[in-house]
Amino acid sequence: MEQLLVPMICKIDKIIQETPDIRTYRLKFKEEGRMEKFSWMPGQFIEFSFLGSGECTFCIASSSTRKESFDCSIKRAGIVTADIHSGLDEGDEVGIRGPYGNWFPLNDLKGKNLLFVGGGIGLAPLRSLIQYCIDNRNDYKDFTILYGARSSADMCYKDEIKEWQANKGLRVVLTIDKAEETWKSNVGVVPKILEEVVKPVIENTKVITCGPPIMIKYTIQSLLKLGFADKDIITTLEMKMQCGIGKCGRCNIGSTYVCKDGPVFTNEQLKLLPDEF
Ligand SMILES: Cc1cc2nc3c(=O)[nH]c(=O)nc-3n(C[C@H](O)[C@H](O)[C@H](O)COP(=O)(O)OP(=O)(O)OC[C@H]3O[C@@H](n4cnc5c(N)ncnc54)[C@H](O)[C@@H]3O)c2cc1C
Ligand code: FES
Repeated sequence: MEQLLVPMICKIDKIIQETPDIRTYRLKFKEEGRMEKFSWMPGQFIEFSFLGSGECTFCIASSSTRKESFDCSIKRAGIVTADIHSGLDEGDEVGIRGPYGNWFPLNDLKGKNLLFVGGGIGLAPLRSLIQYCIDNRNDYKDFTILYGARSSADMCYKDEIKEWQANKGLRVVLTIDKAEETWKSNVGVVPKILEEVVKPVIENTKVITCGPPIMIKYTIQSLLKLGFADKDIITTLEMKMQCGIGKCGRCNIGSTYVCKDGPVFTNEQLKLLPDEF
């Protein structure tokens, strides 16, 4: 356990300003050869420490199929994330523990149509899986990405989204909450666009969703209304965490520890959790 709690040192290779309050930190291990040994699965998370400030939980936002480095996309939400944004530059060192948690059920997704539904920073964990599935494209059938943000400026990964749009094997549907003069795509909240524009095929489709709790709640309602089964709706939870390894009791819902039993759950599993959730 001691080993599990010791951070490894990473260097910030690159910082990408995604939106006014989200930055992607591209990380590489300082120790020679460590990057090659580091492996993770889409959906897993790490504990990221900024010495002198604190430690926060972030998903790994890139796929291990693209392994020269790994990304964490960090939204300024409170004390430590504000310090990360203001106090860390390219070339600086940070501590990383992990990877922790379970991952998206890759075997269950094989041979299926995939529908990704993301909102805001919730695209970060989906991006890891999207990259993984693009890099193993022949394993999947139809591939749709629905992504929504409050405004066009609040959309993450703008350059990568353009690549996805140019990829003939993917269907990309974008939406923002309110109309903007230069915005040529959909306007409306994610569940509405899901029902009215995406109109997904239900048979043989798995839905993977992540976003603000209110978006997830209404997206799941829409999916159930459309006829999806609970077992075919997969999401990832962002409960507050501390140790990340099932020891501190910070993240549990009843006897379920989100850090080690999750953070990825099907809606079928979520329904079995106690009401406090
Ligand atoms: C598995 C997992 C993956 C995550 N992945 C990402 C990611 O990829 N990118 C990202 O930007 N954030 C992610 N988060 C959320 C991130 O951990 C918190 O935003 C961060 O720890 C806030 O730290 P802070 O010190 O800046 O905020 P604090 O000062 O501690 O808190 C600021 C506000 O945010 C609330 N808050 C703090 N932590 C959480 C949390 N986990 N969930 C909801 N509200 C919280 C507090 O109650 C408070 O209202 C993830 C969380 C989990 C558990
Ligand atoms: S974060 Fe410590 S038990 Fe889950």
